[in-house]
Order: sequence, then C-alpha cells, then structure tokens
Amino acid sequence: MSDARIRPMTVDDVPRAERVTAIGFHELDSRMSPRSWPDPELRPPRRSAGWIARTEHLLGTDPGGSWVAEVDDEILGVVVSFVREKLWLLASYAVVPHAQGLGLGKALLAPALDHGRGCLRGMLNASNDPRAVRRYHEAGFRLYPQMLLRGLPDRSRLPVVEHVREGTESDFDLMDSLDRRTRGAAHGVDHHQLIRQFRLLVTERSSGQGYAYVDNGVALLAASDKRAASRLLWEALASSDGEVLSGHLTPENSWAVDVGLAARLELHHDGYAGLRHLKPPAPYIPHGALM
Ligand SMILES: CC(C)(COP(=O)(O)OP(=O)(O)OC[C@H]1O[C@@H](n2cnc3c(N)ncnc32)[C@H](O)[C@@H]1OP(=O)(O)O)[C@@H](O)C(=O)NCCC(=O)NCCS
Repeated sequence: MSDARIRPMTVDDVPRAERVTAIGFHELDSRMSPRSWPDPELRPPRRSAGWIARTEHLLGTDPGGSWVAEVDDEILGVVVSFVREKLWLLASYAVVPHAQGLGLGKALLAPALDHGRGCLRGMLNASNDPRAVRRYHEAGFRLYPQMLLRGLPDRSRLPVVEHVREGTESDFDLMDSLDRRTRGAAHGVDHHQLIRQFRLLVTERSSGQGYAYVDNGVALLAASDKRAASRLLWEALASSDGEVLSGHLTPENSWAVDVGLAARLELHHDGYAGLRHLKPPAPYIPHGALM
C-alpha cells in the first residue's frame, strides 16, 4: 500500500481508531475465536467506551507509542503501545479486513517497536490471526499458547472464600510490587485507569498476597503464590453474574485451570502470550490490553 501514510495517533483519532479495531477483531472472531459471544453486535458500547478511555490514557502517558495508517483521510490501521519500567507493551493492533495482508501492519508496528527501543523486555497478547503471529515472531517475541475459561460456574461447587476483601487506591503500592515480582514491571498509573473500570479484590495474609480486577471473570490478577491466586479466582467466580469469561492463561498458570474446571467451566485454547526476554509470568493473568 504505497499511498498509505503512517502518522502518530492524536486524541481526535481515537473514536475512529476504536472502530478500526472493532471491525478488525469482529471479522477475526467470526473466523476463528472461542472468545466471541453469540451476540452479533460488533462490540458492546461499554467495551467501546473502555477502549476509548484506555487509549486516551495511553496517549497521555506515551504520546509516541500509538500510530495510525491513513489513506485519503481514512484510517485503515492502528497500533497502540506503551512502556512501563523498561517493559514494552502492545495494547492494540488492527488493520481493517479489506486492507490486511498488504504490508500496512508491518509499517505500523515499526514505529511502535521503536517507541520501546531501549527495552529488552516485551509483552503482548497475540490473537489467533496467523498474520499477527508472523509480525510478532519477526519482532523477536516467543509465542506461548494460552487457554480460556468460559461458561456458567456451578454454584454448588464454589467453596467458602475467606481472606479476600475489596481493594482501594491505598493498595496500589502492594499491587505494584506484585506486578514487579510476576511480570517484572509495575502497572503504576495504569492502576488508576483499571480501578475506574473494574471491581478490585485484594488478599493479604502473611503467607501470601494478591490482587485481581474482576468483571464476570478476571480482568487482571497478580499474586505471590498459587493459593492466594486461587482464592481470588474463586471469589471472582462467586461474585459473577451470568456467563464468565477468563482468558490469557498460559500453562504456567494451571492453578487457574484447576479452579475453572472444578467450577465446571469450559476450557478452550485462544491466542498466545507474546514475550520477549521474559518468562511467562505466574501466578498471573494479564489484562487483554494493559497486560
Ligand atoms: C494482525 C494485523 C494487524 C496485521 O496487519 P496486516 O496489514 O494484515 O499485516 P502485514 O500485511 O504487514 O503482514 C501480514 C503477514 O502475514 C502473511 N499473511 C498474509 N495472509 C496470511 C494468511 N492467510 N495466513 C498466514 N499468513 C498470512 C503476510 O505474508 C505477512 O507476512 P510476511 O511479511 O512475513 O510476508 C491484521 O492482519 C489484523 O488486523 N488482524 C485482525 C486483528 C488482529 O488479530 N490483531 C492483532 C491483535 S494481537
């Protein structure tokens, strides 16, 4: 696509960029993902609003991390990346279906990777799209298959969960240290974004600590040990309402598979963790975009 212009994303671009990712992922999900719900809607309004708020937040913290590909004033592709404590992270990456496979994705990823120059370590959630996988492999990422739990928890199987409480901003220091221990870099300012969107659970005992953002499943979890992590996941299931979806589980997090299957959820495989100079974090469930 020689007439495409790759330029930094601006705040004004964000609503149109959101549509590009919604269309790109909807087409992919209908092709190959167990993640898609029976709902034919492109992306539910609440999730669109979440994408927009998160991307505005990332444009504020990392103005050089997000780029768009434009042809005749039409945005055909987007990439959103950011850096936390020398860890480069990819939040979103999509090209509209009719322009895929023509090199736009490669041209977009280059300046985003350049935003992370100086970071040896990198982390992303790769979709099932073989085109995406080619790009990440070329950029030096090792790919680890991930699993996903979904379904209605069998309430008769839920244990009584103890030592889990609501979290607040006063827990952020503990949470940042759990992030550093598991994924090697704190979420820092991203916790302020996440707490606006999700319920925060914390477990804090002398024998083990952890936290989880939950919303009918786990949106992000980090813990010092499997027992603390399992307590949080059980509480997430107990407090869920309707179908649960919890993805991004590497085999290193088989404690989550143990809990999910005990609750009689379905197990599927879905996508890859893409990691560069980083071992698969555990006990850890990354957020889909903020990782
Ligand atoms: C992933 C995505 C952003 C890449 O953008 P793109 O413009 O399609 O990417 P490019 O054209 O630069 O590169 C695609 C690569 O896959 C190859 N490819 C194209 N069609 C393919 C197919 N059907 N199967 C396997 N490989 C294919 C291309 O040859 C190219 O590899 P190469 O450069 O080594 O030759 C885009 O395809 C997309 O939006 N996919 C759906 C959403 C998604 O999965 N996003 C990633 C989130 S993790």
